[in-house]
Amino acid sequence: MQNKSLIILDDHHQERNDGSEDVIQGLTSDPKSIPCRFFYDDRGSQLFEKICDLPEYYPTRIEAWILNQYAAEIAQFTGNCTLVELGSGSSTKTRILLDAYAKNINANYVNSDNVSSCKYLPIDISDGILKTSVLQLQIHYPQLEICGLSGTYDQALTYLASNLEEPQMIFFLGSSMGNFNQQESDHFFQKISQTLKSGDYFLLGVDLQKSPEILEAAYNDSQGVTADFNLNMLAHLNWYFQGNFDLNLFQHQAIYNQAEAQIEMYLHCQQAHTVSLDILNLEIPFRSGESILTEISRKFDLPTIQAQLLAHRLQPLKVWTDPKNWFALILSQA
Ligand code: AVJ
Repeated sequence: MQNKSLIILDDHHQERNDGSEDVIQGLTSDPKSIPCRFFYDDRGSQLFEKICDLPEYYPTRIEAWILNQYAAEIAQFTGNCTLVELGSGSSTKTRILLDAYAKNINANYVNSDNVSSCKYLPIDISDGILKTSVLQLQIHYPQLEICGLSGTYDQALTYLASNLEEPQMIFFLGSSMGNFNQQESDHFFQKISQTLKSGDYFLLGVDLQKSPEILEAAYNDSQGVTADFNLNMLAHLNWYFQGNFDLNLFQHQAIYNQAEAQIEMYLHCQQAHTVSLDILNLEIPFRSGESILTEISRKFDLPTIQAQLLAHRLQPLKVWTDPKNWFALILSQA
């Protein structure tokens, strides 16, 4: 791989995979849905950063706590390797890991003038936030080679499978895995398994099952940031597909579906009307009270997720959790 700062894998309208098909599919189905990747335009990524600071939204803080406690141990397990992050966003938590690996490098290469033995490759669908975080991290970690990959997970993993030779650890934090249904999880693990070479590592952050009250509070925060985040998806569709969603006609709600062990986020339509998305040549009728499913966020139990990893030839080596067992980091090896 060359020495670049940014590789664009997804050139939006030019490329086939810009999500159009999924948007059409979702909005013409009953019940309606919108793929959750449409949360993350620049504003959506900023709103998500705000969510991470909310008192009710515990996953980010707890995962950061676990990373703070155990990053050195993780770095010791894997040794120096190329760090690939899926859905890096602003890479805030990543710094905890990068600090641990940077320390390793400094310790191992004190007398060497070629210190670039560790690479960090953040992957994100939002160009804006990727660029900002790459530029900041390059200043903060001059000893790391940092190159952002702009595109979807699928595009990035395909790219890595044929362009990366050195040992690597792919990490996927924040329980973003929770957005995948069972079939998508299987596809994702399979893709990870195909991308990793034997001996490579996969670090996965998962939000664990807990009481519905705690979960629902985390997705219906009192300041309404999650509501803005959810509604912003419609603004994103308006911009991207030349649409006319009226954000005032929809209301945010998140519920915990205990049978499926997942948070479900909805936008409820407040009055009957029709929305058009010109670029997709789409007219979408809405009934009053009709809802759009915008996200599932699955909550996991450790034995089940470990068995799934193993079924895809990803051998769980070690699990780290917090004292309340609310969140877990699982390190697996291909
Ligand atoms: C980034 C997918 C992990 O599911 O908790 C936060 C997204 N949605 N609040 C999650 C989200 C509403 C978040 N993930």
